[in-house]
Amino acid sequence: MKDPGTSYRLAVLASGSGSNAARFMSYFRGHPRIRVALVVSNNASAPVLQRAREAGVPAKVMPGPAWDDSRTAESVFNQYGIDAIVLAGYMRLLPSFMIRKYPGRIFNIHPALLPRFGGKGMYGMHVHRAVIDSGARKSGITIHLVNEKYDEGPILFQAKVDVVPDDTPVDLAVRVRQLEHDHYPRVVEGYLLQGRVPEKPAI
Ligand code: GAR
Repeated sequence: MKDPGTSYRLAVLASGSGSNAARFMSYFRGHPRIRVALVVSNNASAPVLQRAREAGVPAKVMPGPAWDDSRTAESVFNQYGIDAIVLAGYMRLLPSFMIRKYPGRIFNIHPALLPRFGGKGMYGMHVHRAVIDSGARKSGITIHLVNEKYDEGPILFQAKVDVVPDDTPVDLAVRVRQLEHDHYPRVVEGYLLQGRVPEKPAI
């Protein structure tokens, strides 16, 4: 947490559709202390880039090689004055120089209840299929700080949904996605501004 009263400029990193990135852009539009200042994708054809254009947020494509030189990569984040990073369906591991640059200020969301169903290769539908195949009766979301290992940083927040009989991975993904949209921006907001995770709103 920075000093009380200071503001945050977020970079949202996403590889695909970017529905969570879009949620951040709308949630923080006009916010007095937090703004989405940059969207970054590793994938030049990711729909998230169009969503950023529509929201008037600068967007950059940074494929794998763009991260090879730490000074060049860091200069992009410096140029936009980025103070914190939100991973929203970002399918690459962030290089360790970025984790050192933003200690305790990189967030990730995972579409299941970690520590189960995480790790390399566990993203999107792979996760929902693994949950259903395991026979678990509950799934959900995990919002956590990022360290150098996939899905292993300190957990800030989890919320659950039922896995119902005959759920397909797509059915479960729809329910989990709704939870992501409901909670991810406000959990990041609470953590940055108050240094703690806000209570779940009564729904
Ligand atoms: C989200 O469900 C997010 O939890 C997941 O990718 C999806 C991106 O959706 N992330 C992972 O699986 C990370 N391991 P979106 O592009 O519509 O925001």
